[in-house]
This record gives sequence, C-alpha cells and structure tokens, in this order.
Amino acid sequence: MLNKKSIKDINVAGKTILLRADFNVPLSGHNVTDDTRIRAVLPTLEYLIKHNAKVVMASHLGRPKGEYKPELKLDPVADRLSELLGRPVAKAGRVRGPEVNEMIEKLKEGELLLLENVRFESGEEKNDPELAARLTDKVDLFVNDAFGTAHRAHASTSGVAAHVPAVAGLLMKKEIETLSRCLEDPPRPMVAILGGAKVSDKINVIRRFLELADNLLIGGGMANTFLAAQGYDLKNSFYEKEQLDLARSILEESGSCRCRFALPDDLVATAELKDNSPYEIVKPDRVPDQLMAVDIGPESAARFGRVVSDAGMVVWNGPLGVFETPPFHKGTETVARAVAESRAYSIAGGGDLVAALEALSLSSQFSFISTGGGAALEFWEGKKLPGIEVLEDK
Ligand code: 3PG
Repeated sequence: MLNKKSIKDINVAGKTILLRADFNVPLSGHNVTDDTRIRAVLPTLEYLIKHNAKVVMASHLGRPKGEYKPELKLDPVADRLSELLGRPVAKAGRVRGPEVNEMIEKLKEGELLLLENVRFESGEEKNDPELAARLTDKVDLFVNDAFGTAHRAHASTSGVAAHVPAVAGLLMKKEIETLSRCLEDPPRPMVAILGGAKVSDKINVIRRFLELADNLLIGGGMANTFLAAQGYDLKNSFYEKEQLDLARSILEESGSCRCRFALPDDLVATAELKDNSPYEIVKPDRVPDQLMAVDIGPESAARFGRVVSDAGMVVWNGPLGVFETPPFHKGTETVARAVAESRAYSIAGGGDLVAALEALSLSSQFSFISTGGGAALEFWEGKKLPGIEVLEDK
C-alpha cells in the first residue's frame, strides 16, 4: 500500500500551511446543498487548529476555466465551514497578490483563511510553475486533503509540492487506506457494482474489477451498452453505439475470468423520462417500440441484492438507474438496502451514487463514502494520481 507521510508525522506547530481541499460542492445561490465534502475535511482542520498551525485553504469550485465567475466564488463554503467549526474563517477576495499575502502574514496560530476559487487563475489547470510558486510564497508546508481532485495535475494539487514539503491530510490518508482495501487482499467474496451512463468512462475499472472481484454487477446506462452488444434491440434506450465493439470484447474477456459478470435480465422501460411516468417491466428482448430502459428491473435488483448479502466487501460506483426521476430509483434503492443490511465492508463513491444514498438516508449505513468520483476510479484502475504522487513517503 502507498505509505505517505501525513500531518501526524510532522511538526505543524507555528507553521503556515497551504491546505488543498476539495470544496467542489453543489450550491443553490449562496447555500451549500450538500456539505459532505466540507465535513470530510473537518478532522484535518481540527487537528491543525489544535496543533497551532496557521491554515491557508485552497480549493476549486466548478469549472470556470481561468475566468472570474461570481457565482463560483467560495464565500458560501467559507460560511458553511465557519458554522461547522464554530469559529471564524477569513475569506480572501483573490487567489494571490499583495492583499492575500498580507492576510496570510497576519494569521495567528489556529486561524484559518480560505483563498478564492483557484480555477479563477488560468495557470491552475495548466499546472503553471509561476502560480505554484506564488501559492507557496508565504507558506512552510503543503498539505493535500483533496482526494477528489488527486487525479488532476494542477498547480494547487501537484505543482506546489516543488516549492515546499508536501504531506497528506487525514482525509487523504483515510481515502488511500480505505480504497486500497479492495486492491489488497479484500474480504471475500468481493462484489463490485458499477452503474452510471457510460461504459467509456469506466472501461479500465471494469477490466480491473474483472481481475480483482468475485462478482461484477452492472447497471445504469452502461448495462444498456452491454445488452446492445449482446444483440438486444433496446429501442429508444440510451446506449453508446461507438462502444459496442469494446463492450463485446469485455463480454468475451468476462467469459474466461474467475469473476462472475452480471447484467440485468429485466428492465424498467418508459416512454418519457419524468417523475411518475407510466412504465413496464420487460425482458431485454421485449423492449416495446418507443420505450427506453431507465432502471434495472425488480428481479435483477433482487438477484443483485442476494449477491451483495453474501459479500465480504462491496465496492460501488454509479447508480443503477435514473435515480433522480422516481420511481426509477428503485433498482438502486433495493441494492443499496441489501448492502446496508449485509455484513460486508462497503465503499461507495461518485457524486451521483452518493447523492442517491443521501436521498435514501442510507449513506450512514455504508462503511465508507469516498469523496472521490473520478479520482476513486483512477485509484482502483491502478493509475498514479498526481496529487498523491507528490506527497512525501514515510
Ligand atoms: C470532482 O468533483 O470530481 C472533483 O472536484 C474534480 O473536479 P473536476 O472533474 O472538475 O476536475
């Protein structure tokens, strides 16, 4: 397993720390509608405050592509953070510059400052060395707690480590340790569940789980692409026509591996994707004209649930149907309840699935909710994540 130094391995007292967090949270006006990612960084912040560090936080929000976008300012995050910590969080109006440096210099031990959205700077996504140097001008240490952004080689996630020593925050450490559990001698049977719209996003992780897992259960739009590759006419269903060859070759590979690869064998089909629209439960070879598959059917959900109830470990990314449009959340719900009731060590990741589990009030019954979507997938693929690579080894 990766063995990186964390804030607990160094002396942070009196040091000025650049803490990269992933505060890329959903907003409605000035309100943070899901503060999971903010709460996830609290243990690191509380540790740094308790140990008398001066903390300068940096994060991105959305994809402003180097432009100033008022609706993507981090003020709502500063306010929510301050509420959660019960202490003031100063907020800089910019990412860098003389006023920001002055605010950093004035920080006292245990005080916090949040910089403006780092992606307002055009150098951030280009990993511009000049921006990385300016971000670290006034700090002694870089602490990366932004696991959700660890797959990006940006100035504030990786470039800054060229200028100051870099260690992991407590969230980063926990994500690395927990996500590694399914790669290294997992409790068995290990069941991987992959949903979401696209095979193309998850191709490498599908292959990896075919090697690692005992069962791989597929749902969501992804399942449609595999079913279409098996020759079923799914009528108006979404699937990736350009990925059919790839899906065929995975189906072939799955035939010769130890892992049992499962697709739904009944589907929920509707004519229109809107709340409570009428639907039919159909077999993949009987999808009526004009209808589209939007969820795994009840038999498949029950079958997936039975597989999960015997698992030692469950790793899940992506919902199994269009969960945000009821009743097409039911497949995801049935399987999520089976995971919650099982004895399995369960890990869920990816914004859509985590939102679905939150809406079902089931996330607290999972053993670990990863703050990474794309980052968790790349971690499981076995890729080296730039935001982790730059951290010092123990
Ligand atoms: C995420 O939400 O997945 C992370 O914050 C990374 O965001 P990005 O995909 O815009 O880099």
